[in-house]
Amino acid sequence: MSNTIQKNREYKKYVVDSKLQYFKPHATKIEKTFAEEVSSSLNADLKFISPKYFYDKKGSELFEKICLLPEYYPTRTEVTILKKLQQELPSFLDDSFRIVELGSGSSVKTRLIIDVFAKLQNKIEYFPIDISEILTESSEQLIHDYDNLHITGIIDTYEGGLEFLKHYDDKKNLITFLGSSFGNFSPSDGYLFLKKIHSTMKSGDLFLIGLDLVKEKHILESAYDDTQGVTAEFNLNVLSRINDELGGNFNLKNFEHHSIYHEKEQRIEMYLKSSQKQSVIIPKSNLLLNLEKNQLIHTEYSHKYRLSQIHDLLDDAGFELKHTWLDENKYFSLTLVTKK
Ligand code: AVJ
Repeated sequence: MSNTIQKNREYKKYVVDSKLQYFKPHATKIEKTFAEEVSSSLNADLKFISPKYFYDKKGSELFEKICLLPEYYPTRTEVTILKKLQQELPSFLDDSFRIVELGSGSSVKTRLIIDVFAKLQNKIEYFPIDISEILTESSEQLIHDYDNLHITGIIDTYEGGLEFLKHYDDKKNLITFLGSSFGNFSPSDGYLFLKKIHSTMKSGDLFLIGLDLVKEKHILESAYDDTQGVTAEFNLNVLSRINDELGGNFNLKNFEHHSIYHEKEQRIEMYLKSSQKQSVIIPKSNLLLNLEKNQLIHTEYSHKYRLSQIHDLLDDAGFELKHTWLDENKYFSLTLVTKK
């Protein structure tokens, strides 16, 4: 173990073996940010908890379960599109690229990209960036399954990971941001995030983004309120996380999963609804939270896009369109761009 400093941020380097290493900011830093963020976001009039806190170990596992639900079409649709893209991606690549993945999670979809690289390169480099430790398990599995794969995992926020990458080296990157995770951003924050990605990229780098498309309301609403209640469990789990990590005393039985599609805003809105008047204490956030019956805590936006909006957004952020792939129902999209 050794320490490395990347632009004011301190990372610890963990070398597992010659093919696997991780960088992780010091634990106290992450915890402090969580406690502080919760402190202000639950103190606000319109209460919210950032969706990035869904993904502790349990939350990441629950999300994996969501991906397999019959109602949750995005994952399986994106996989179908990735299989088409596999045939065509090599024409945009040469043997000098590495794969950088934002929000890799369990890296299931990544395998489809790695398979493409495996046919082009003797040594494949993969940099997953994920806030969750689940990254370590999926990376070990990948190393086991691919002989010529070298992984450098960055356990950090997207912003932290991008900053890390920016100062890393001159190798060309294919940055992937799959699963419509971009949909969590408001359009204005999304725009700023695209600019951030843009500023991280060198000329010749590629960026592949997976975005969910606008479709019928009932299809969208069932995808975020499944009959088995897995999405509800996923949503409520963020309260357990606050209990575990910040010493909170949320009683999960006093909250309900609430999710609706807002057509004008083109987004699923997810909330936790307080089913009674109640008080909750969160010691590490120094907070006494008083909630009214039916008061909502906002936990997630999942924005849906029209194809023309995706193209305009990317164009505005300084990208040049290379290709967009769709499924036959036009439920989901994958778009490849470079810097203009
Ligand atoms: C991981 C953000 C893409 O918005 O569809 C799934 C998260 N939330 N079900 C999404 C999620 C509820 C998911 N993203």
